[in-house]
Amino acid sequence: MAFDIDMIKGVYASMGERIEKARKLVGRPLTLAEKILYSHLWEGTPSKQFSRGKDYVDFAPDRVACQDATAQMALLQFMHAGKPKVAVPTTVHCDHLIQAKVDAKTDLKRANQTSNEVFDFLESVSNKYGIGFWKPGAGIIHQVVLENYAFPGGMMIGTDSHTVNAGGLGMVAIGVGGADAVDVMAGMAWELKFPKLIGVKLTGKLSGWTAPKDVILKVADILTAKGGTGAIIEYFGEGATSMSCTGKGTICNMGAEVGATTSTFGYDESMDRYLRATDRADVADAAFEVKEHLTADADVYANPEKYFDQLIEINLDTLEPHLNGPFTPDLATPISKMSEAAKENDWPLNVEVGLIGSCTNSSYEDISRAASLAKQVSNKKLKMKSQFTITPGSEQVRYTIERDGFIDTFDGVGATVFANACGPCIGMWDRYGDKAADGPRNTIVHSFNRNFAKRADGNPNTLAFVGSPELVTAIAIAGRLDFNPVSDKLINEDGEEVMLEEPRGYELPPEGFAVEDAGFIAPMEDGSGVQVVVSPTSERLQLLEPFVPITTESLQGVKLLIKPFGKCTTDHISMAGPWLRYRGHLDNIANNTLIGAVNAFNKQTNFVKNQLTGEYVAVPDAQRAYKKAGIKTIVVGDHNYGEGSSREHAAMQPRHLGVAAVLVKSFARIHETNLKKQGMLALTFANENDYDLIQEDDTFNFVDIKDFAPGKQLTLEVVHANGSTDNIMVNHTYNQSQIEWFNEGSALNVIKKENA
Ligand code: F3S
Repeated sequence: MAFDIDMIKGVYASMGERIEKARKLVGRPLTLAEKILYSHLWEGTPSKQFSRGKDYVDFAPDRVACQDATAQMALLQFMHAGKPKVAVPTTVHCDHLIQAKVDAKTDLKRANQTSNEVFDFLESVSNKYGIGFWKPGAGIIHQVVLENYAFPGGMMIGTDSHTVNAGGLGMVAIGVGGADAVDVMAGMAWELKFPKLIGVKLTGKLSGWTAPKDVILKVADILTAKGGTGAIIEYFGEGATSMSCTGKGTICNMGAEVGATTSTFGYDESMDRYLRATDRADVADAAFEVKEHLTADADVYANPEKYFDQLIEINLDTLEPHLNGPFTPDLATPISKMSEAAKENDWPLNVEVGLIGSCTNSSYEDISRAASLAKQVSNKKLKMKSQFTITPGSEQVRYTIERDGFIDTFDGVGATVFANACGPCIGMWDRYGDKAADGPRNTIVHSFNRNFAKRADGNPNTLAFVGSPELVTAIAIAGRLDFNPVSDKLINEDGEEVMLEEPRGYELPPEGFAVEDAGFIAPMEDGSGVQVVVSPTSERLQLLEPFVPITTESLQGVKLLIKPFGKCTTDHISMAGPWLRYRGHLDNIANNTLIGAVNAFNKQTNFVKNQLTGEYVAVPDAQRAYKKAGIKTIVVGDHNYGEGSSREHAAMQPRHLGVAAVLVKSFARIHETNLKKQGMLALTFANENDYDLIQEDDTFNFVDIKDFAPGKQLTLEVVHANGSTDNIMVNHTYNQSQIEWFNEGSALNVIKKENA
């Protein structure tokens, strides 16, 4: 139904020759990541070796996937590109706009009422331009992609940072902004800096309470939230091949939490089994025939220290279950140390809610293992102490687990099954009504991937810990954060001490997957007659106007908008939660610009000085005042600015409001590219200490912007309120074509010009 076997066979047909050529150019055996990258060059057969972490390279991805929140802006941009159809297979998935509140049926019905305008828009644009459409309730993008489209050795991009999930099926799958997706949909090359390579050797084998999730929680502990930046993580070893394909997906999924470009695993039998179980025997057969191209050359895994920029080894025999958090996914605590850690940090021990599922952990294996624990609740005369919720990743998984009795098991412990959608993972969880901002301090545990403040329920006082679905279920049964199911006993209703037995499950459904309506709508063969209507009075959707280039003159007398203190993620720059409803309306969503960032000068959020009046106002209000006065602004930030997600809104909104430049100690990769795509200046301090020179009343002059050129530093004159000045040097990573984006106003303006 939904995949293109001819396209896949075409990729495999050219792989051998391209890899052979690359091996010669590089002069040594190749890793899997290198094989996939070199066989997806825009130029076709490789003609030169690329330097990792240095060279920008044009690639030709096989697929594009978009989720509903980011697809709105991506498709609004694609409509501007002047193309009749998408150039590569593309799908749109409606998953982010469904709020979890009551249960799957009620919530889906409400979402279809409240967001019908957006869903109709996405469906009609998909129909018009040849894009596969997965309707609301069909499932979460990454689970649906894994079930239907991912294939070993392929390359895809997706407008969601957890696109990397498809690495579980041996792909190089990368999260991008909508502007990058538009390039590929419009038949253009997609550019990426050739990544560095991190090898993770998994020795031993998972058993007992330890799950694939614990592997990535441990990797996050080792690498930290930015340790994977600019790198592809390649997993190998007996611990990798003995793991399920969906378990590999979980590990790759959370590679986004260490900032990795993507993660991947070499082809093995688990992938073959998964492809066949998901009705893709033809893909499995085709992959089997070229399997030597779908994993690294033999010497790479035998002597990995020779081939990877960094090597990590994890022994799965001794790996403990972990809980990571709160507020950051790289703060790892082995469960045996949680009691101590919670005491030390004063984390509330009472767990109010346990949530399993999401794109990260909602495979049949995950659900069946969690259900094996839920079953023990009645068998052992226990009670589920915490609330418990399940968000299945796809209708196929939901239908199959219902058929196999797991939903009944969860019902039996009083659990709530939410819609097959993102829900609580993206702040679309109506837990507190309109009282979320002042919610009580409390603890939740979940099997999702992110746990930034307010991410799940909008309550800044919710401490969210990330763990495997098995551990989350066990903790929800016990109701305590420090419960260690490996060693701790529970008291049942007869007053007896009981222990939970280790979770058990099935890698794949013994009776196969089943589904009645998977939720896929194929586009018309010829969509040229389809009308896409956007009401001029809509508050959800707005057709785009091209951005006007930022002139060199306007880069004199630039004012500081905000100097965010500490972490500034894309959630801080463009909040999710209730703001998701404006993702297709640039002017309306711009009213949340940087409202989550903490002002370094007063440590308050959404409270900055308007230099024109001296008053302290909300960030968007200050920015709109500068815009009205025709004054450009700059945002000055710390390390890893823009980490988090691929949303280009975090670049488009400041651009729309008149921010000209973002100057930081370092950028998260996707956000830096997004700023460039929107025709802004993305700059880094040549000397990090200069960050401390920036004051609240500063004015900036880009004195040599006329000489903007690849590899050349720029000079920034900073004029302080007392008239004194500092000249600071700033770096950038623009190549010539990216400078063209800046000169033309945006990358889209360049595409349009080329198509004219
Ligand atoms: Fe959705 Fe959360 Fe995954 S927002 S795509 S379930 S990371």
